[in-house]
Amino acid sequence: MIDVAPLLRGRFGRPLTQVDETETTQTLLGEADPEGAVALTDHQTAGRGRLGRRWQAPPGAALTFSLLLRPPGGAPIQQLSLVAGLAVAEIVEEALDLSAQLKWPNDVMVDRRKVAGILAEAKGGVVVLGIGLNVNQTREQLPPDTPTPAASLRTVDGRERDRSPLLADLLVRLEQHYDAWVADGLDAVFDGIGSRDFLRGRRIRVDGTEGVAGGLDRAGRLLVGGRPVESGEVELV
Ligand code: BTN
Repeated sequence: MIDVAPLLRGRFGRPLTQVDETETTQTLLGEADPEGAVALTDHQTAGRGRLGRRWQAPPGAALTFSLLLRPPGGAPIQQLSLVAGLAVAEIVEEALDLSAQLKWPNDVMVDRRKVAGILAEAKGGVVVLGIGLNVNQTREQLPPDTPTPAASLRTVDGRERDRSPLLADLLVRLEQHYDAWVADGLDAVFDGIGSRDFLRGRRIRVDGTEGVAGGLDRAGRLLVGGRPVESGEVELV
């Protein structure tokens, strides 16, 4: 069980709802909750990924939580996956002492494998931001048939970790980057995101368009063959 409450240092993580098991943490938060509320579990029985996919992890191995955000009206909330991805990538880098990349729009990668995924769901005026970070899974415990091969921090460096300090640090980083984004938009975090772009220079297909990924524009859209793409599933060609 994660014991993060004594380690919290900011607004994010308060209040904290913690359950041993749930279908998905995404439904434990809603419009009645304040910004910064977190729902955390050791095991999801119906974890959700993007595009209707499942997100699976054995009990106690991963960090699986949702965070409630109340972005200002009209803010481009599709950028939140990138903002959160930067926070996750930085935490992963600190833990592993290796560089991490962001695979637009929502994956965090190490050594060409996905270690974390982010799911941002709008509910009325709020956003429930779900994060799944593979921490202590062994190779056998990772799903074998994902579109992007999976890794955990443990499969990268062989170490098992206490998830509590990792989560506490991640919540601080999420709060910093989110606050900067609210104040100054994507420009505030653009360099950190752009310098970790996994797709840049690779030949990809997204939404029927094939071309070389040319990086992100200032709105966080992926440039493919010079044309901006708002959202979609990227395949490496
Ligand atoms: C993806 O990679 O497609 C997104 C994965 C998001 C998984 C997290 S785990 C916590 C939260 N609850 C869910 O059911 N999904 C998100």
